[in-house]
Amino acid sequence: MSKTSSVQAYRAGLLYFHADPAFIERAHAWHEDGLLVVENGKVRTAGDYATLAPTLPPGTDVKDYRGKLIMPGFIDSHVHYPQTDMIASPAPGLLPWLEQYTFPTERQFADPAHGAQVAEFFLDELLRNGTTTAMVYCTVHPQSVDAFFSASEKRKLRMIAGKVMMDRHCPDFLCDTAERGAEETEALIQRWHGRSRLLYAITPRFAPTSTEAQLQLAGELARKYPDTFLQTHVSENKEECSWVKSLFPQARSYLDVYDRYGMLRPRAVYGHCIWLDESDRARMAETRAAAAICPTSNLFLGSGLFDFEQADKAGMLLSLATDVGAGTSFSMLQTMNEAYKVARLKGSYLPAMRMFYLATLGAARSLHLEESIGSFAAGREADFIVIDPQATPLLARRSANTDSLEEQLFALALLGDDRAIAATYSGGRLVHARAQG
Ligand code: GUN
Ligand code: ZN
Repeated sequence: MSKTSSVQAYRAGLLYFHADPAFIERAHAWHEDGLLVVENGKVRTAGDYATLAPTLPPGTDVKDYRGKLIMPGFIDSHVHYPQTDMIASPAPGLLPWLEQYTFPTERQFADPAHGAQVAEFFLDELLRNGTTTAMVYCTVHPQSVDAFFSASEKRKLRMIAGKVMMDRHCPDFLCDTAERGAEETEALIQRWHGRSRLLYAITPRFAPTSTEAQLQLAGELARKYPDTFLQTHVSENKEECSWVKSLFPQARSYLDVYDRYGMLRPRAVYGHCIWLDESDRARMAETRAAAAICPTSNLFLGSGLFDFEQADKAGMLLSLATDVGAGTSFSMLQTMNEAYKVARLKGSYLPAMRMFYLATLGAARSLHLEESIGSFAAGREADFIVIDPQATPLLARRSANTDSLEEQLFALALLGDDRAIAATYSGGRLVHARAQG
């Protein structure tokens, strides 16, 4: 038997991005017969098999994935783990959906055992869908954050999460206070932010469920801990927008409510961003806050259609997100499928290349984590997925009939789902392998 090396190598078609294909002609690297070389959980190098194979240390195990594609793991920039069990719950719009399903479901997370059990299922589901990093809402209960981070730490995953802060317009059983919400948040930052591969997100749910005092304290924490993340919802739904207008009459816009409390900054991620105006978009771009675009959720709740063209014109940071449980799939491929149709309905066009960028390097840039994840540049964490263009009979048939990489990626985005993810690796370790059918 040959001596095993600390280096592992993976042979397949290799795709990753170094720029945004919407703005740069050749923004991707594509190696049809490629090799990804991993050492100590990090990317050592990526390139053509023929060039790199002779440079491997003797005894290196080369895993043969020929016929498949390897790319960086997907990043889901907005998802609610406590809503896993209520995905696909019908309601006529956002506000009734929150009242009827979301709040009663989130109540169960007062029980740490429940949180731990849902967190395990949720992480399994992410990995089955090729998502290696997610930016996650927990519930108002600090123990829901401990449950999520403990489960993620055990698996050595790169995850971002935070405790929901809400101190008004919610049932008593989910209500914190401005002070308690801030104290619990600060304690959780100290316990989890930067531990293992975990990062903390300050998480006021959305403007209607926070008093001015709570938004003020959330903004103060965002200044005190500038390398933490911040996440919330903005301009998702028309009724919600009118409600915010009546609650904050002094603000110029919904986004301006957050701006007034210093919550627009790098590493702040705003879910939805459908009903923003031109000044809002300019402000997002200027502050390097990012939009998480949630097409399956926005179609499901009838919230509206994200305007890719205006967002690009403003130069906003963009990423794709599932927003489960309002989102109807954990699959970033299915999320691309719906994003494509949303763009068409708004009269614009999203190439497949752009959609895969938005789910990988684009999201990493939105999170200001591009030095760690999102591509195969040397030294990046080896979070990657193996995609199978033959995963289903229909996908195999369509894949056999594609003439370009763009067509192949498009077919995967439109026809693919968890079945197309043959394997998922995190930090160079296999964390999901699809069962042989
Ligand atoms: N706005 C406030 N809370 C939520 C939530 O849980 N899901 C969605 N989609 N929008 C929200
Ligand atoms: Zn959400």
